Amino acid sequence: MIKTQLITVAVVNNVLAGRHSLTRTLHDCWQKHTTLSGQQKGAIQDCSYGVLRFYGQLTEILAILLTKKPSDKNIYCLLLIGLYQLLYSRTPAYTIINQAVSAAHKLTQSKKLQGLANAVLRNFLRQKASLLAQAEKKETGRYSHPQWWISKLRVQYPQHYRAILSTGNKRPAMTLRVNQRKISVAGYQRLLTEQGMESSWIWHGALLLKKPVSVDTLPGFNKGMVSIQDAGAQLAAPLLDISQGMHVLDACAAPGGKSTHLLELADISLTALDHDNVRLAQIEQNLERLEVHASQVICGNASDPDSWWDGKLFDRILADVPCSASGVVCRHPDIKWLRRETDLQALVSQQQVILDALWQTLARNGKLLYVTCSVFMEENKWLIRRFLQRHTDAQNISLSAPELHDGQLLPNNCHDGFFYTLLHKQ
Ligand SMILES: C[S@@+](CC[C@H](N)C(=O)[O-])C[C@H]1O[C@@H](n2cnc3c(N)ncnc32)[C@H](O)[C@@H]1O
Repeated sequence: MIKTQLITVAVVNNVLAGRHSLTRTLHDCWQKHTTLSGQQKGAIQDCSYGVLRFYGQLTEILAILLTKKPSDKNIYCLLLIGLYQLLYSRTPAYTIINQAVSAAHKLTQSKKLQGLANAVLRNFLRQKASLLAQAEKKETGRYSHPQWWISKLRVQYPQHYRAILSTGNKRPAMTLRVNQRKISVAGYQRLLTEQGMESSWIWHGALLLKKPVSVDTLPGFNKGMVSIQDAGAQLAAPLLDISQGMHVLDACAAPGGKSTHLLELADISLTALDHDNVRLAQIEQNLERLEVHASQVICGNASDPDSWWDGKLFDRILADVPCSASGVVCRHPDIKWLRRETDLQALVSQQQVILDALWQTLARNGKLLYVTCSVFMEENKWLIRRFLQRHTDAQNISLSAPELHDGQLLPNNCHDGFFYTLLHKQ
């Protein structure tokens, strides 16, 4: 138990102090600690995700309990973890406190710091209700998002910002995309039922699992019957309006979730492009598993077509551009704390450059679907408004899809947040 506690401290510290992504950190952690059992990994994952999900609330509580933030970052992370467990886990409080105290002994020689874990966590238990109420008074404590993020959403979505923030703190849904080249949605749902896995249909080929399961227990996963993909992301391929024989570019394609969906829907000639070689390998794996074929998988920069494009204009382009990922925080709670408000302008510039460059590679009468998994208007409708002013040959085609308003899909319990705009080249 102490081992998992100490590894969780290292994971949380690497994200918060080292400013590394949680996904990357956990990946490196599994590579380093090869003897961890599935249960230990589950505990480390659950706890590190939880701490980052509720980091705003936990830090507000600690700010009240501590006269001064401990200089030892590991001890601070240990306090965050203990507090998270006391608030959100079913482990008895005495076990949590004993583990924290033992872990503190391993982490520091300082008697003072060793005593701190015990004192702070016990004080929390004694004053829990009043501490929770005090933490609620600050917006960062109430919503567990950075203040700039809360303020931005309040201005941009005065009606919905609370719901967006609260969805961001929930555990994400696990949604499947049925490969309808292999099996019907109803047929796959029957297979799930036979395995005791309850699911509900959302739209297109999207089935929401009532309880998340491990991927290798999904019927026919290795045979390519199904993929894991959020229902919001599953709107992309149908919205691009593809048909047989079209020359299609997926410009930011890795790991290939939307590329493979396009190939499941129609016999097209698809070029999958991404500038990240490592992620590109995942496209190849997904193509192979799903038994669909892309004409080309290219490592290249979408904002510099001269370096990879053969000059043949595309009928359709999917531009699922890099973004703040503010619509998928429930899956990646570290994003809230790693992203800075000042990053946004650089992202917007990058998105603009990619979009302008891709526009030249689109045939007349062709269509380009611009996608982000963000809810910030800077990356979405404001960027498209400026694009339309710069490109008089572009027309915004109105999209009709469930829950899509003005191109924006807000995150909820069933799906992540996305933005979609379909541009027609005249
Ligand atoms: C949102 S992810 C794409 C997800 C993918 N469409 C899917 O559905 O699986 C954005 C991708 O854009 C890639 N990317 C970022 N900047 C790029 C650029 N300038 N050129 C090509 N790819 C880029 C990243 O490596 C990343 O894989």
